[in-house]
Amino acid sequence: MKKKTFESEDLKKKVCVVVGTRPGIIKMSPIIKKAQESEYPSFVIHAGQHYSPSMDDQFFKDLDLKEPEYKLEHIKDCELHGEQTAEMLKGIERILYEERPKVVLVCGDANFNLAGALAARKLHINLGHVESGLRSDDWRMPEEHNRVMIDHISEFLFAPTKNTAQNAIEDNVKGNIFVTGNTIVDAVYENEELAEEKSDILETLGLKKKNYFVLTAHREGNVDSKEKLEMISKFIKEMGDKYEGTPIIFPIHPRTKKRLKEFGMKEEFYSIDNLQVLEPLGYIDFLQLMNHAKLVLTDSGGIQEETCILKTPCVTLRENTERPETVEVGSNIVTGLSIEDVLEGVREMLGRKKDWKNPFGDGTASNQIMEVVKDCLEDRLS
Ligand code: UD1
Ligand code: UDP
Repeated sequence: MKKKTFESEDLKKKVCVVVGTRPGIIKMSPIIKKAQESEYPSFVIHAGQHYSPSMDDQFFKDLDLKEPEYKLEHIKDCELHGEQTAEMLKGIERILYEERPKVVLVCGDANFNLAGALAARKLHINLGHVESGLRSDDWRMPEEHNRVMIDHISEFLFAPTKNTAQNAIEDNVKGNIFVTGNTIVDAVYENEELAEEKSDILETLGLKKKNYFVLTAHREGNVDSKEKLEMISKFIKEMGDKYEGTPIIFPIHPRTKKRLKEFGMKEEFYSIDNLQVLEPLGYIDFLQLMNHAKLVLTDSGGIQEETCILKTPCVTLRENTERPETVEVGSNIVTGLSIEDVLEGVREMLGRKKDWKNPFGDGTASNQIMEVVKDCLEDRLS
């Protein structure tokens, strides 16, 4: 009979990193590099949740990463959350079954992370959750139930801050919690200078430093409804009146582009005067764009963190955030989508002194995480 789960002695001293979406690739890149430089074998599984070259290959190039050892195909054909998660779980489990790594690392809250986490758990492989303990307390968000489930089945919870560690403690998780900082700090520090040297995005778009806004929006709750997209289009126009001569640069997520098309709004949206819609940018260009923006409006998780690190004011277009540290230090304000609240948020943030401190660590998160991984490989953890 085929063995269905592993005992510790069946596993090899080997590390598996699971990636699958744009932010997953970016946030895991410092860990992948450390793992590859270490004395231990490692491999990457790309779960294939993001697949367009501008959401995938571009980041391997920009971040100087090798091709992943494994890549799942056809995940793009899945329409429902459960179906997508199930397909990735199936693919990842098969690979882990053959490779038998002693540690699997996932990062964040996208569906591919839940798939990777479940695959590891089912096979009795040690699971580490990078970016653990975040909570929005908004149970409607797929990300919220994903991150709660992953935290509960992980051996190692790598919390970016004390606050996130506390969330995990209050949830009564079983694994060991380590406060390491967020690997996004490592990624920003590793790429900030390179972006300054290599990116010509400002010249290409004819932008002057601190004289443009950046916008991103892709959350299901914001872009899967016509009404919400209309609210976005309204405040963009209003900002055009209020901040005349300050363009809004909008690298559009494929999900948002698709929805604008489906709702018959694409043409009108793309022709808003003060708005410049671009295809998704690579990391080097986007980092440079964020770094020199007057302010960023976003519903992205990673961008709330990066703007905080880069000292660029941020307005979050959501009703809540799982990154309250950014609001506490003063780099971010959470406004939702109503015109009045967004405009008030922009005014408030533009008036603030940018002397906040980055709460997400000192750029050594990937090192700290790899130390725990090595201790696990060598059975040095109790
Ligand atoms: C996912 C994550 C979200 C994360 C975001 C990062 C979940 C539930 N959501 O949302 O937490 O913030 O990634 O960007 O896991 N598409 C393409 N090309 C791509 C990727 C997506 O065209 O490379 C289109 C597809 O039509 C797809 C839609 O975008 O159906 C949504 O993609 P999906 O991966 O399901 O969710 P995201 O909105 O990207
Ligand atoms: N990003 C990028 N190009 C873009 C938009 C975003 O490189 O055109 C990067 C951004 O710097 C951040 C990550 O993608 O590191 C955020 O991804 P996204 O907003 O899609 O997901 P989230 O962080 O909300 O899960």
